[in-house]
Parts: sequence; C-alpha cells; structure tokens
Amino acid sequence: MKANVTQVMVDEHELILRMIALVEHNTALLEAGNFRNWQFYLDAVDFIRSFADHFHHAKEEEVLFSELVKNGMPEKQSPIEAMHMEHDQGRAHVRAMEEAAQKALAGETGQAAIIAEHAKGYAELLRGHIEKENDILYPLAERILPEDVREGMLTAYEVAEARMPGLKAKYQKLVEEYEQQV
Ligand SMILES: [Fe+2]
Ligand SMILES: [Fe+2]
Repeated sequence: MKANVTQVMVDEHELILRMIALVEHNTALLEAGNFRNWQFYLDAVDFIRSFADHFHHAKEEEVLFSELVKNGMPEKQSPIEAMHMEHDQGRAHVRAMEEAAQKALAGETGQAAIIAEHAKGYAELLRGHIEKENDILYPLAERILPEDVREGMLTAYEVAEARMPGLKAKYQKLVEEYEQQV
C-alpha cells in the first residue's frame, strides 16, 4: 500500500476549522454588539499565522505542491496556482484584521466593522479552500504521486515540524481555551 501523504494535512485542517468556527461565532456576537474581546482577534491572527500559515501552508507549499509540480501538474493556471493565490488572499485578510484589532485595543473607535469584514472574509475563503483541498486536490495528489517520492515527503513534513517544536500542542490548547468560553 502506498504511504498516505495527505491525511496529515486533512487532520491539520480540523484544528484550523475549529478556529474558523470560533471566529464565525465571536464575529456574529461582535456584529450584534455583544463581543468586545479584541485580544481574541489578535490570538486568532497568531494562530492563523503560526499554525495555518507557517506550519500547515508551509508544508503544502514546500513539500506537497512542489512534489505535484515535479510530477507533472502545471504550476500556472492550475489548481496549484489557485491554492497559492488563496493562501495570499488569506494573508491579506489577516493583516487587515490584525491592524484593526490593534487599533481597537488602543481605544480607537469604528474598528468592529472592519474586523468583522475581514474575519468573515477569511472564514469564508478558508472554508472553501479547505473543501477544495480535501475533496479535490488531495485525492488527486494521492492518485498521481508515485510510490518512490512518498517516504521522502513524509520525512520532509517531519523536518518542517521539527523546526517548530511544541507548536501544534500550543495552538491546540489555545483553540480549546476559547472553545470553553463559547
Ligand atoms: Fe492550502
Ligand atoms: Fe490546507
């Protein structure tokens, strides 16, 4: 049996989706005028940057996507290009959310609507993105990647994770703490 090189990514999506659910829940309260915990948004930004982007998207971009390109998937006008573009769109929402949350924390008024716009924009983008990866790109990867590159990919994932010891546990705990406040 071929070693599976995408299940680890699907598992990471689960934690990202739990944070997205928190963002959606708290943003609905924010829009109703019942949520003023600006620090939550800064923690969500930290989670997204460290866990979703640095930990997860880095493995996708450096290992999985690059292996797909080496094995014949075009880099341009392809699912790979679309996924890269969505990673970048996500980063733009996160920057805007962070800026507004910092201003709100410093006492500037009028930031809630900006935070809500980018929080909802990010949540919607990432839900669609994860769905495309789980349902289309990852199954495609499992079909086309040859046997002999898979062990190397799993090792490359491990090397990437070893660069960030304790990171997964830290962000799992952060999500659990906010889930308990819901
Ligand atoms: Fe992705
Ligand atoms: Fe992903």
